[in-house]
Amino acid sequence: MKDTRARIERIDLLNERFISLELALEDPSLKMIKPGQSLLARLGDRSEEFPSWALYTREQWWPVGVTDRDVLRVELPRRNVYEVGQVVQLLGPVGQPFRFRPRLHRVVLIAYNTAPTPLSVMTPLLVSNKVNVTLLLMGEARSYNTRHLPPEVEIIKANDRLEWPDMVRTMPEADQVFAIVGRDDELGRFKELYQLMLAHRSEIPENYAFGVFQSTLLCGVGSCDACTLHTRSGIKRICTDGPMFDLTAVRLGPQLHS
Ligand code: FES
Repeated sequence: MKDTRARIERIDLLNERFISLELALEDPSLKMIKPGQSLLARLGDRSEEFPSWALYTREQWWPVGVTDRDVLRVELPRRNVYEVGQVVQLLGPVGQPFRFRPRLHRVVLIAYNTAPTPLSVMTPLLVSNKVNVTLLLMGEARSYNTRHLPPEVEIIKANDRLEWPDMVRTMPEADQVFAIVGRDDELGRFKELYQLMLAHRSEIPENYAFGVFQSTLLCGVGSCDACTLHTRSGIKRICTDGPMFDLTAVRLGPQLHS
């Protein structure tokens, strides 16, 4: 875990709701950050803040790759005002990289009521390995503009009833499914998706459906208990054990995983 700084070098508008920032890193080793890992970021220099707040008011940023100018790029909602030259404090990498099954042919990524950014970071890697990728956008995620994603990625938008043409084929043909949902009710939405998958498969095997959790992270190192998750093998911490968890192992509700 690095506690370091970066400077914003460039700001691009991705679409109406998202921007990308290019970050010149003080510690270049953070450029090796892998899909699935994130950064806890705070605008401003350490000298500009009251010390006791420093650990607890960071945003989670998801890197989307290193540019041809060798700087790290992150994708963010347009919530805050950023300026070229601004200093950012960074803690990271946070969490474990995504794990893929061997002999992977088809992956389905699902974003439900949230931007798919933490999932879309894996698309260049998968496409370059000749894996077929489908990105399924549901609810508010349907308004996410996908123009900047690799053209090989199949984009599907579900209707308000969470249905789409060919849905009987999408889930059964996937070797692995990764899902991300709105943070207002992560367990409830993952439960909905789990039931949706069960409607198209006789069972959900282990190592097939993964939820990527975005719960609020404070310390990022497993010491504050802000991000605990109940699983069938005990309490896990999203910041150190996650962000991806096998949904067959997460306690989503009493009637599931019978
Ligand atoms: S953020 Fe503190 S334990 Fe995970």
